[in-house]
Amino acid sequence: MRVTEYLTATPEGIDKAAFLLKEGKLVSFGTETVYGLGALASSDKAVAGIFAAKGRPQFNPLISHFATAEQALVHASLSGKMKETAWTLAEAFWPGPLTLILPRAACSSISDLASAGLPTLALRVPKSETTLTLLRKVNAPIAAPSANRSGAVSPSTAAHVLASLDGRIDAVLDSGPCLVGVESTVLDLTQDIPIILRPGGITLEALTSVCGIVHQAQTLQEALPSSPGMLASHYAPSLPVRLNAHHVEKDEALLAFGPPAPNATLVWNLSATENLEEAASRLFAGLRFLDAEGQKLGLKRIAVQPIPPRGLGVAIRDRLHRAAEPRPPKSV
Ligand code: TXA
Ligand code: MG
Repeated sequence: MRVTEYLTATPEGIDKAAFLLKEGKLVSFGTETVYGLGALASSDKAVAGIFAAKGRPQFNPLISHFATAEQALVHASLSGKMKETAWTLAEAFWPGPLTLILPRAACSSISDLASAGLPTLALRVPKSETTLTLLRKVNAPIAAPSANRSGAVSPSTAAHVLASLDGRIDAVLDSGPCLVGVESTVLDLTQDIPIILRPGGITLEALTSVCGIVHQAQTLQEALPSSPGMLASHYAPSLPVRLNAHHVEKDEALLAFGPPAPNATLVWNLSATENLEEAASRLFAGLRFLDAEGQKLGLKRIAVQPIPPRGLGVAIRDRLHRAAEPRPPKSV
């Protein structure tokens, strides 16, 4: 058990976080999407520490984070149309919730453990000012998955991080709640047409408006070969989840969207006005709340009202479908 240091987003706090990361330590930091669990991406030992702290299967590759597009794209082997597309997307959406999957450059220092031995890398420039300052100070790629135990609900506050990783990581840098609330969109640029492997904070509509045709991996099987981390059950609260609920049973908590279904004893409304941005930003906090309070009240399930499949609704539905999947055995 280690002592997890709580750092605030002051110059001293950020300096300390940068110092710890450079030393190969595990530091959680907020991004615009969720809190990440960061470590030096070039160090096998530091990256192994992430897998150990999360209990994460080692075939699941990590995203490397950078302060600028230049620093990120140096790690990719780019030419022709792929180069043009990567730069166009970087200019349009970075810093922001988009992760690009690109062929690894021979000169890249990113550890094979971080990329799970794949010939590709996942690269992203996050939007949080505190995190960008931190990344500039560290001046090296930082591997960071979401800062939760593998398979559990992603964290959108420093308190969520401590709830699952206190004593397992070296520090958490508190930069307040995450504004987007769902993870980055993972976009594979290694094929002729870009493919969304994981829907997220940048919508299909926004990507299409910048780079033309974009495919969406429709099924898990389609995403799996290139994105081995797309496990079916993920983001899972302890209570089972029932989707597309139009009514609430007596033993259910309700995750509402729009006017709540009547007669629920415990409700978290993602957005009373059906605003999908607001709903995304309140999703993980809502699952955690209903899970914890629902169990205290002896409730048996979380019922979820329908979410429309447009804009950020696609990412929200993806997370909720995974939360509702049958769970793997507890030993994972
Ligand atoms: O918003 C986010 O993306 C957050 C913050 C912390 O940046 N990070 C995050 O990381 O969600 P994680 O590890 O929970 O999810 C990374 C996703 C996984 O689905 C993984 O399979 C995919 O990215 N991925 C990583 N490297 C890949 C690669 N080389 N090829 C295909 N997919 C990859
Ligand atoms: Mg995750």
